[in-house]
Amino acid sequence: MRAPRPPRDHACMDSVRIRLMSRDDLPAAERAAAVAFLEGDRLSRRVSEPEPEPPTAEESRRWIELVGYFLSVDPAGCWIAEEGRDVVGFAISQNRGALWYLATYGVLPGRQGKGIGRRLMDAVLDHAGGRPVLLSSTVHPAATRRYRLAGFTLHPQMRMVGTVDRSTLPAVRGLREGRDDDLEWMDRLDTAVRGAGHGPDHAHMLETLRLVVSDASDRRGYVYIDERRGRPELLAADRPETAQNLLWEALASTRGDTLVNCITTGNHWAVDVGLAARLDIGQEGYIAVRGMPAPAPYLASGHYL
Ligand SMILES: CC(C)(COP(=O)(O)OP(=O)(O)OC[C@H]1O[C@@H](n2cnc3c(N)ncnc32)[C@H](O)[C@@H]1OP(=O)(O)O)[C@@H](O)C(=O)NCCC(=O)NCCS
Repeated sequence: MRAPRPPRDHACMDSVRIRLMSRDDLPAAERAAAVAFLEGDRLSRRVSEPEPEPPTAEESRRWIELVGYFLSVDPAGCWIAEEGRDVVGFAISQNRGALWYLATYGVLPGRQGKGIGRRLMDAVLDHAGGRPVLLSSTVHPAATRRYRLAGFTLHPQMRMVGTVDRSTLPAVRGLREGRDDDLEWMDRLDTAVRGAGHGPDHAHMLETLRLVVSDASDRRGYVYIDERRGRPELLAADRPETAQNLLWEALASTRGDTLVNCITTGNHWAVDVGLAARLDIGQEGYIAVRGMPAPAPYLASGHYL
């Protein structure tokens, strides 16, 4: 379904204040995010996909925990749009060394198309300074318009979906479970692949995700696996062969439907693994970059990039 384009109405702009987020804003920002993304998912849903559901109480709790974490690490990147006492929009960005990324961004459906998103984007890009910028975009027409007008290059993303045919799983060697003391070389690998380490994000991911690494000096790479949702969450490697081994390991640990997301054209190694595992190719959104190439071999995480 095509999103109805809201009328260009810049009246009442003065009643909307763009300001830094505080911890007290987290519950209201979470409610705004739930509504903005539910409506966005409804508009972009394909007929073959199930009707999107509002977040469960557990998902809402996780959003608050995640954004609370971003707020504790880099509060100057976290902004909200406020009208009266209501949160009507939010943009959560983070600087990590030489890189800026956008973790999440939304405006309440009834308030879209009035320039609130542009003002939020201006605030967070100001925080980026001159850093290269990276984000994963939905297909929402206002989002892609906003990013392209801000000078981002949009790289269409593929995604592999379905249930892994377990008879296709190869024997993978040279991998082990990751630990705290791997994070240092993982940050160096991140720097080579996407221009900056994930820094504290690694420790944060390690709290809830399984980490598998390949640490031979000529085959370095890692993958975080979300075992609850049965899918790889973030993968970085020094070469496509290492990346493929890690992705096979992640697919071996899934049960039922899985999703390999954020596959840009520079990452066809992931398409080849997905096809061999008898998953289907789909398309979903964009990796958007400015001042840097789209990372490879790399599968970005939607929130930690
Ligand atoms: C993306 C989003 C935050 C933008 O907020 P916004 O307040 O609508 O943004 P703005 O009004 O500043 O700008 C949107 C631009 O797209 C245009 N636009 C808005 N809705 C549109 C639509 N349905 N179709 C096409 N263009 C649209 C606006 O006219 C405006 O362009 P302009 O500045 O040249 O006039 C908001 O649309 C949203 O929350 N979307 C759903 C959640 C989402 O997908 N977030 C992005 C995550 S990556």
